[in-house]
Formats: sequence, C-alpha cells, structure tokens
Amino acid sequence: MKTTASHSSRVGKNPFVHQLKLTDSEKLKIALMSVTVFPVRLLLVSFLMLLAWPFAFAASLGRSEFVIEPQSWWRRLVDLCLRVIMRAMWFCGGFHWIKVKGERAAPSEAPILTAAPHSTYFDAIPVTMTMCSIVAKLESASIPVWGTLISYIRPVFVFRSDQHSRRKTVEEIKRRAQSGGKWPQIMIFSEGTCTNRSGLILFKAGAFIPGLPVQPVILRYPNKLDTVTWTWQGPGAFKILWLTLCQPHNSMEIEYLPIYTPSEEEKKNPALFANNVRKLMAKALELPLTDLSFDDREISLSQGPLRIYDYSCLLEFNQLMRSLGLRAGTTALALEEQAKRARKLQGDRLGLEDFAQFLNLPATDILEQVHSFFDQHGVGQIDIRHYVTALSVIHRPLKPMDTLKLAFKMYESEETGEILKEDLAVIFEIMLGVKEVDLTVMFLALGGPDTGRITYDELHNFIQKFQNFALECLDFKDHPRKFCITHRTSCNGNKQDKDS
Ligand SMILES: *[C@@H]1O[C@H](CO)[C@@H](O)[C@H](O)[C@H]1NC(C)=O
Repeated sequence: MKTTASHSSRVGKNPFVHQLKLTDSEKLKIALMSVTVFPVRLLLVSFLMLLAWPFAFAASLGRSEFVIEPQSWWRRLVDLCLRVIMRAMWFCGGFHWIKVKGERAAPSEAPILTAAPHSTYFDAIPVTMTMCSIVAKLESASIPVWGTLISYIRPVFVFRSDQHSRRKTVEEIKRRAQSGGKWPQIMIFSEGTCTNRSGLILFKAGAFIPGLPVQPVILRYPNKLDTVTWTWQGPGAFKILWLTLCQPHNSMEIEYLPIYTPSEEEKKNPALFANNVRKLMAKALELPLTDLSFDDREISLSQGPLRIYDYSCLLEFNQLMRSLGLRAGTTALALEEQAKRARKLQGDRLGLEDFAQFLNLPATDILEQVHSFFDQHGVGQIDIRHYVTALSVIHRPLKPMDTLKLAFKMYESEETGEILKEDLAVIFEIMLGVKEVDLTVMFLALGGPDTGRITYDELHNFIQKFQNFALECLDFKDHPRKFCITHRTSCNGNKQDKDS
C-alpha cells in the first residue's frame, strides 16, 4: 500500500496512549501521601458520593423521559444541594479551586456546549458544576450510585446495541436543542473518546447537526505531573484515582469561548461546522489538529505478534473508506463474501472500472484514490485480494489472525492449503503497514526443507511462539534492527533476548 506523504505526518502519532513516568522523588511523595492523605480523601469522596445519591434519587422519582417538569421549589433545592455536595467532593479530591474563564451562555442562546479535549473522567467536573446534560451510554445508568447521579442530569442515552442508535441520539439532541431553552444545555465531548490532550482529534457531528449556535468549552489540567489522563493505553481508572488523590493540589481550568453561530453553509454541512469549531478550539488551546477519529483508535492500538507496525497507510485507507460509506457496512460475513469473489478472480488485475464494478459503486475520485492505493507499480491495475485484506485489517485490527485466515482463503492452493512465500510477504506488508517484507529468516527458522510454501496451521503455530513475531522473524524496510544480527538468532529459537 502506498500513502501520501502529507497525510502520514499528520496521523503518525498516537494520542490514545499515556505513558506516566514517575521520578524517585515523586514516588516517595506518593508513598507518603498514600499512607496519610489518601485514605482520608478516599473516605470523604466516597461519603459525599453516597450522600448525593438520595438527592438524585428523590429528584428522579416520577420523572418522564420526554417532558421537562416545571421547576418547583423542592427541585431547585435538590439541585442546589447536589451542586454543593459535588463541589465538596471534588474539593476533597484535591481540586480545591477551579479556574473558570469566560462566561457560560444561557441555554436559550447556545443549547449545546462542545467541550474538548476529552481526556479523563475528571471531565465530569464541569458537568456537575453546570448540571448540563450529557450524551451517555445506556449501560452507565445502571452503575450503582454513580448511575443515579448520571440519570439526574437527564443524559441523552445511546443504545449501543441498537442499529439506529446514532440516528435516534442525534434526533434527541436536536429535539432538546430546539426547545428554546426549556431543556438543560447539553455538554458534548465531540471527540467521542479520551486522548492524552496532545492534539484535537476529529469531532463527531452529533453536536453540529441541529445547526444551532454552540458554545465551545476548553478544558485544561495544568499540573506538573499528569495523573488524570485516562486513555486506552496507560494507567487504569483506579490507578488514576489513587495517584490523583495523592497530589497535594490538582489544577483544572475551564474556559468558555464566545458563542459560535454557524453560517448558512455550516448549517447545511455539519461536518464543515464541526471542523471549523474544532479549528477554533485548537487555536485557543494552542494544540495541533490530529486527523484521527474515535474508530481509528483500535487501529493505532493493535497488539500481539502481528500488531500493526506502521498504521499511517491503514489510517488513510480507513478514512477513504469512511468517506465512501463502506466502513459502516463491513461485517465478517461481507468480508467472507468478498474474499470468495476475490478468489474467483484468481489474481486477475482490475482497472478502476472493474474495481468500481466489484464494489458496485460509481468510479468517483475517492474510489480512484483507493484504487491507486493498491496500485503498487502505478500501472492502473490492482490485485483485489490486497484490497480485501486491507479492509479486513481495518475492520478488526485487534484480530489479525482472522485477517490472516481470510487471506489464506483467497490465496491457498485448493489441494494442499498452502500459500506461496511471495504471496505471504505481500499479505504481511498490508497487515503490518510495512514494505519489502523478506521471509527468508522465518522460513529458515521453520526448520525442514524450504519448500517456499506454508499452510495456515503451520504459520499459526509458529506465530504463537513469538510475542514480537513481526520484529523478531521478519525483515522489512526500515526495520528498527535492520543492521543488527541478534534478531536472527532469536527467531531460530536459540536465544531470546528481548531487549537486545
Ligand atoms: C501523547 O500523544 C502523543 C501523540 O499525539 C505522543 O507523542 C506522546 O508521547 C503522548 N504522551 C504521553 C505522555 O504518552
């Protein structure tokens, strides 16, 4: 697969990881705090959360999901008590004062607040301070205690299991936003997932589809030691809680930017609206734009022996497939189906027209880009099996063995179930995002005479033996140890020196 240079530089980094390194003096401080301040704070925080529960529970009694009840005196009282309790809870957690810049708009002026960057569950602080609604998974309502508190702020629930969930969520956001300030404001973390705040990833369109004014809200945690970031790779929820409660003080800043009113064009084009707001927020944050989205997360987090080595190509491919609308419809079954058809073509080369016909799509510009992605030699023709393999990789980046199996189905000889060394090299190139894969070392390490062929089972058993299969057993362009001999011995199974 080829990539365009401009793109790879913008997505080459992975903001879904957070590496926390503690110095010795920090470790010592944490050890001291762990036996002194931490237990007291944990007790107080837990107590306050439990104290909040009866209030939230009382307020939720007899509430309907679709109408907003009039503000009676007792509801206002409950609301006030909850705000005080929650603020006290954050205070006990070390967020003693929270700097608020700018002014929050009234719900009638800006029904939606778009908050970013989203990086931790402490982002709940601005939510509890404003008592805005949020968009939440339905499951979160059933978490004990916390679930009742979430339900109190009347979230827009997302039903993950429901096919039409996206549409329903957007409709509900729209309905509330158009109520002219009757419903509480909705605070939406438009990135849709947590990052390490090194850049702003792509915004989901939900907050922008109603085409109403939004108020951007930016969040900062200007702490020397970053204990709050909660990404998909890095410290887990409890560790974050522990480390954060062990800090003498935790700083947080909330800044309300001026209301952003969409132009006519932006009203018609939510993606444009979202992108302009994102740019404006990145500028205020002095952060770069990172052209990754929520569903690129898995690609950049693949793990195991066949983890993706360089994901920039695959991310670009993913983006093209998204814009073609082919990402949503991809299922394991559809992949099997395509693999069968690809096999029938027996490695025939497809030009753009044939490729369009294969996918049952018009031959548009974007399709041409996808086509040229697999056109290694620039001759205007591709092997469709490469496309199916790449599609499988982006569809299930965490299950490379499934992709390998699928690839075998397209390439293997019917009689023996073996595939050729050359074909396997190409498959690995696509799966790992690398170039010029060389399998000499691997075939040597297999033992036995080198027939230049291998079955799925043989390969599968072999790969299982190496946690770092790709690095230990394969050679490819820009291999980090290209000029080093040691990895050759490790793949032979003689020496396994991980760090050399
Ligand atoms: C945060 O993500 C960037 C990539 O966007 C990465 O370079 C950096 O190392 C990450 N920071 C931490 C602390 O892991």
